[in-house]
Amino acid sequence: MNESRICIALDFQTKADVQAFLEKFGDEKLYVKVGMELFYGEGIEMVKMIKEMGHKIFLDLKLHDIPNTVKSAMKQLAKLDVDIVNVHASGSVAMMKAAIEGLEEGKTQEKRPLCIAVTCLTSLDQEVLDNELLIHDPLPEVVLKWAENAKEAGLDGVVCSPLESKIIHDKLGLDFLTVTPGIRLATDSVNDQKRVTTPEMARELTSSYIVVGRTITGAKDPLATYKEVYKQFQG
Ligand code: C5P
Repeated sequence: MNESRICIALDFQTKADVQAFLEKFGDEKLYVKVGMELFYGEGIEMVKMIKEMGHKIFLDLKLHDIPNTVKSAMKQLAKLDVDIVNVHASGSVAMMKAAIEGLEEGKTQEKRPLCIAVTCLTSLDQEVLDNELLIHDPLPEVVLKWAENAKEAGLDGVVCSPLESKIIHDKLGLDFLTVTPGIRLATDSVNDQKRVTTPEMARELTSSYIVVGRTITGAKDPLATYKEVYKQFQG
């Protein structure tokens, strides 16, 4: 298998849950996403354990604060030697530039961790933008503008829906990464996601990486489901 571009979202509460889950994959080298739930519960030790197992880590903490605070926080996260970190694009170009500065200052390798920006969460839709956030531009235009801001700030890509991936790549180039959650196999339930696609559709829509959570973590046979997702997306 080529290096995985499937980030399995380890949305678990405890180290024991993670260990039990990862054991099912044997020697397979994975790309995993550690989000707030796991990081706030198990912290830095968890990240170190996963790195020692040889997996790559997308540390999904979605930073959003004043530029100086984000810079200092990123300096700390860079020391963990994770592979991808992220911020909210809505924090501004200045905040995103500060994130990169922090990563450069804290990096332990020659190359800093990749940094991507969350555009619009895939659980949001136009109705929420209009009625709650008072953002009246069409959602795809908001996503594209925020992606442009991220590129301007020197970030490596964005988190977005696969449905937005192609338009972002057309405008900003294929090297600008699109990391796309909201993935479901055709047989799955959608849960709380509002805009979902299959791994195969995500590949056709040019997603660089896909983030897959409950489809794999909640499966009866996570390894078999991972292989099916891999086949559809990379196979
Ligand atoms: O279980 P599911 O596949 O829906 O999990 C998706 C993962 O991607 C979750 O960890 C969620 O926090 C994350 N995510 C998302 N939408 C975004 C950014 C991150 O669903 N825009």
